[in-house]
Amino acid sequence: KVVAVIMVGGPTKGTRFRPLSFNTPKPLFPLAGQPMVHHPISACKRIPNLAQIFLIGFYEEKEFTLYVSSISNELKIPVRYLKEDKPHGSAGGLYYFRNIIMEDNPSHIFLLNCDVCCSFPLTDMLEAHKRYSGMGTVLVIKVSAESANQFGELVADPITKELLHYTEKPETFVSDLINCGVYVFTPDIFTAIQEVSTHREDQANLRHLSSFETLQSPTRALPQDFVRLDQDILSPFAGKKQLYTYETMDFWEQIKTPGMSLKCSGLYLAQFRYTSPDLLAGGDGTKSASILGDVYVHPSAKVHPTAKIGPNVSISANVRIGAGVRLIGCIILDDVEVQENAVVINSIVGWKSSIGKWSRVQADGDYNAKLGITILGEAVIVEDEVVVISSIVLPNKTLNVSVQDEIIL
Ligand code: GDD
Repeated sequence: KVVAVIMVGGPTKGTRFRPLSFNTPKPLFPLAGQPMVHHPISACKRIPNLAQIFLIGFYEEKEFTLYVSSISNELKIPVRYLKEDKPHGSAGGLYYFRNIIMEDNPSHIFLLNCDVCCSFPLTDMLEAHKRYSGMGTVLVIKVSAESANQFGELVADPITKELLHYTEKPETFVSDLINCGVYVFTPDIFTAIQEVSTHREDQANLRHLSSFETLQSPTRALPQDFVRLDQDILSPFAGKKQLYTYETMDFWEQIKTPGMSLKCSGLYLAQFRYTSPDLLAGGDGTKSASILGDVYVHPSAKVHPTAKIGPNVSISANVRIGAGVRLIGCIILDDVEVQENAVVINSIVGWKSSIGKWSRVQADGDYNAKLGITILGEAVIVEDEVVVISSIVLPNKTLNVSVQDEIIL
């Protein structure tokens, strides 16, 4: 048997995701019309002999109750949310719930960051992992040398694929091969985390004895039960024939900002062509609006037949799209109204917002730039004939004049 654990983090981790994280925990923000965490969960569903999926985080339980019960019913696999009383780090969180995770006595444990977007080649990873017969296998990818320092950089043996060296977000370049945040482990991972934690306790005790060091660095020591998978496990266990790598040649992105969520929404829509073509608009003949490229429209949304939509558009529940509207590259969240002849390009439109007639909400679509997409928070009103370019608008604002390159607080 195999189990999967998805690390969802908690509210303090979502600050770069503002203002969209005001309403929804980041893991539940919709990409391609499905909560972010839904994509790794559907990938887990394809693993043979999967017994359970656990989401571990420090968000309030009630935020996940509805989602986990509906997804458990839909996939017919138990999905449980396990809440930490405080952050324990990416490995500490796993260790904290070791007894529950080991209930089914699994031979392998998948561990996935929830904020990565990829094709999750989990079954192939598991097969490679069994061949390597180490404690863990890390999904890795080659990225550009300039972007590598935002991630864990690593060196792997070209023949055996052993992880030889690992550095988390190094200041000087080590390698363009990086950690994708997707792992498979044997239960030995718990012993490894235990060792790190015990070692830390010993050091803390030593430090107590040496008042000099306590004066020098009173806050340097991390709590004994706070263990990071990257710095505290991958770095020290590299080069010990315990960790191996599996390189993906498919797409991979990290989702830390709203701009990247819009990009990843497009990547997941494109993947639906192979995994769930029924979710893409246009095929069923019931939506008569003209659809270009990959588009998701929630069944409860009302789209006028003269609207033109796509590519990379995702329209959530109870949205109303008026006559002559043009939408390109956007996420339109629940209960939004876009009125006649409005245009929305490279933007995210927050829950219950309304865009007036002949208005434009747009940006140039540079997903990595601060104002590369326009974001309207919840319940923003853009009045008729107003133009909003490359701006972020906080919730509950009314715009009656046009703005460009502004953050409206
Ligand atoms: N439950 C729980 N508790 N989850 C946590 C905690 C915690 O205390 N801390 C982090 N996480 C979750 C985050 O929500 C995220 O899904 C994952 O663990 C990793 O988050 P970080 O530890 O903040 O690392 P990162 O995202 O900056 O970088 C990691 O992932 C990159 C790939 O996206 C590193 O492992 C990098 O090496 C890697 O390249």
